[in-house]
Amino acid sequence: MSLLSNLTDRFGAAFASLGLDPGLGTVTVSDRPDLAQFQCNGALAAARAAGRAPRDIAQDVIDAVGDPDVFAELGIAGPGFINITLTDEFLGERIGRLDPDRFGHLARSNDGKVLIDFGGPNVAKAMHVGHLRSSLIGESLQRVFRFAGYDVVSDIHFGDWGTQMGQLIIEAQSRRPDLLYFDPASSGPYPDEPPFSLDDLQEMYPAVAARTKADPAVAELARQATLELQQGRPGYRALWQHFWDVSHDAQRRDFDRLGVAFDLWHGESTVHDRVAPMLEKIKAQGGAVEDAGALIVEVARPDDTKEIPPLLLTKSDGGYLYGTTDLATIDDRVAMGIDTALYVVDARQSLHFEQVFRAAWATGVAPESMLLEHVPFGTMNGPDGKPFKTREGGVLRLDDLISLVRDAALKRLEEAELATEYPDEERAEIAARVGLAALKYGDLSNNRTSNYVFDLDRFTSFEGKTGPYLLYGAVRIKSILRKAADLDLGPGPIIPPAADTERALMLELTRFPEVLDRTVEFRAPNHLAEYAYDVVTAFNRFYEACHILREEDAARQASWLGLVELTLGLLVLLLDLLGIEVPDRM
Ligand code: ARG
Repeated sequence: MSLLSNLTDRFGAAFASLGLDPGLGTVTVSDRPDLAQFQCNGALAAARAAGRAPRDIAQDVIDAVGDPDVFAELGIAGPGFINITLTDEFLGERIGRLDPDRFGHLARSNDGKVLIDFGGPNVAKAMHVGHLRSSLIGESLQRVFRFAGYDVVSDIHFGDWGTQMGQLIIEAQSRRPDLLYFDPASSGPYPDEPPFSLDDLQEMYPAVAARTKADPAVAELARQATLELQQGRPGYRALWQHFWDVSHDAQRRDFDRLGVAFDLWHGESTVHDRVAPMLEKIKAQGGAVEDAGALIVEVARPDDTKEIPPLLLTKSDGGYLYGTTDLATIDDRVAMGIDTALYVVDARQSLHFEQVFRAAWATGVAPESMLLEHVPFGTMNGPDGKPFKTREGGVLRLDDLISLVRDAALKRLEEAELATEYPDEERAEIAARVGLAALKYGDLSNNRTSNYVFDLDRFTSFEGKTGPYLLYGAVRIKSILRKAADLDLGPGPIIPPAADTERALMLELTRFPEVLDRTVEFRAPNHLAEYAYDVVTAFNRFYEACHILREEDAARQASWLGLVELTLGLLVLLLDLLGIEVPDRM
C-alpha cells in the first residue's frame, strides 16, 4: 500500500472515532514542504457539517491519530489544516520495505480489458507528426496500463481501405497499364513479387493525390476503383495486398527502431466483412436513415452546444467511409470482449470520434457500458509554429527523424566528452538511445493536449528537463554502484535518514503509486515524466550532500547504497514506462 494510503487510513480512522466521516481523512503531500511533509484538510469540511470550530476538530483528530512512532509532529495551521511530519524511523522503515518491482503500487485486478488504438499510419503514405505523437503517447500508455494491472490489447489500426487506395490503384494503372491486375477479365493468379517498391508508392501517392484534387475525372476514376476494390475485384485486391505488404514491412521496421510495438496489426480492411451485416442490422432496427441515396446515423443531441452532424455510413454509390470502418471496428472490438477502447489520435479528429462513438451507442453496436474514449493530443510544431516539416518542406519520415536525433545526440556526447573512448559500436548504440530519449521525453513531458515546438537543441541538451539529462542521471547512478562494488561495498538494510537531502529523496521515492494512478486516470504520461525529473533532481541533491564512498559509518554507507539502488530501480521503471531505455554507461 502506498504511504499516502497508509496515512489516509490512519486519519480516516481518527475521523471515524470522532463520529465523523472517515472520507475526510485524505492526506496529501504538503503544499508547504518547508513547514511539513504532508497535510490533511478534512477538519475544515467536517466543521461545516458538525457545526464546530475547525481548529477544535483538528485538535481532536490529532489527539486521536497520534502515534509517536509514526508522527514526529502534528500541528494545526491557519483555519484548521493539519500539518504532518513523520518520524525518521517510520520513513526509513517504509523505504526499507518498498518492493523494488512495484514501489508500493497495487496492481488492479478485474478492471476489464482495455484496447489502445494508436499509431494509425496509412498504407503507402509517409507518416506525419500526428502518427509520431500517437505512437509515443500510445506506447507509453500501453506500458502504463499493463503495469497498472489492466488486460491490454494494442492495435495499430492501419489506414488501408479508404479512397487513397483507389487513387494508388489508378496511379499504378496509368504507369503500368500492361500489368495483369488491371485486366477486367483476369481473376489471377497474380505474381508474388510486388510491382512497386515503398519508394515508388511514396512518390506515387502525392502525385495522384494532386491529380485527383485538380481533375474531377481523375477523382471519379479513383472513387470507382475504391468501390471495386472494396467490392472484391480480384486484380485490385491482389495489387492492394502488395501495397499493404510493402508498407507493413517498412513501417514495422520503423516502429521497431522507435521501440513501439503493437499486439494487433489490424486495419480498416480487417473489418470489411463485418460492414454489410452490421449495416443490415442497423437498418433493420431503424437506427439509420437514407438521405439522398446515402445512409446516415443522426447523432445530434438536444443539449449539444455545437452542431454534431450525422455520421455518414455509405456514400450514394454504396462505398464505405472512414466512419464506417471505425464503426465496424467497434463491432469487432465488442466481439473481442473489450470493455474500454482508447483512441490516441490527433485532436483534429475529435468530431469524427464524437460522431462514431455516439453512433455506436445509439445503434447498439456498442453496449452503453462500453467506454469509448478519444485521447486527443496537440500538434508537434516546427520552430515556425506550424506542424513540423523537414528542412526540405516535406513530411517527415520516421526513419529520417530517428537518424536526425541520433546524430544530434552523438554530437552532444562529443561536446560533453561522454562515451568518447568506447568502441564505435557501443557509442552508436548509446547515441541511438540518447536520441530516442530526447525525442520521447521532449514529447511526453508536455501536457498531452498542448501543442509544442520540436526543438532539437533543447531536447538533446544534457541540461534541463530533458531525456538526455535523465538518462545521464540514471547512468551515473549505475556507475556509482559499480564503483562501490569495485571497493567491495554493497547495498545494505535501510536505516532512518540523517540528512535533509536523504530524507527528501526517501519522501520522493514514496510518491510513485499516486503518480502512476494519475497517469492512468488522465491518460497523461507527462505526470510520469515530471516525476522522473523530480526523482533525478532529488537524487542529485542527495549525492552532492552525502559522500557515499567516503562515509565512515559502515551501516550508514550500506543504507545509502541501498537507497541508491532503489532510486536506480525506480528511475529505470519510470523511463521504461515512458518507452525510454537506459544504457549501461555513457
Ligand atoms: N489512419 C488515421 C489517420 O492517419 C488514424 C487512425 C486512427 N484510429 C482510428 N480508429 N480511426 O488519420
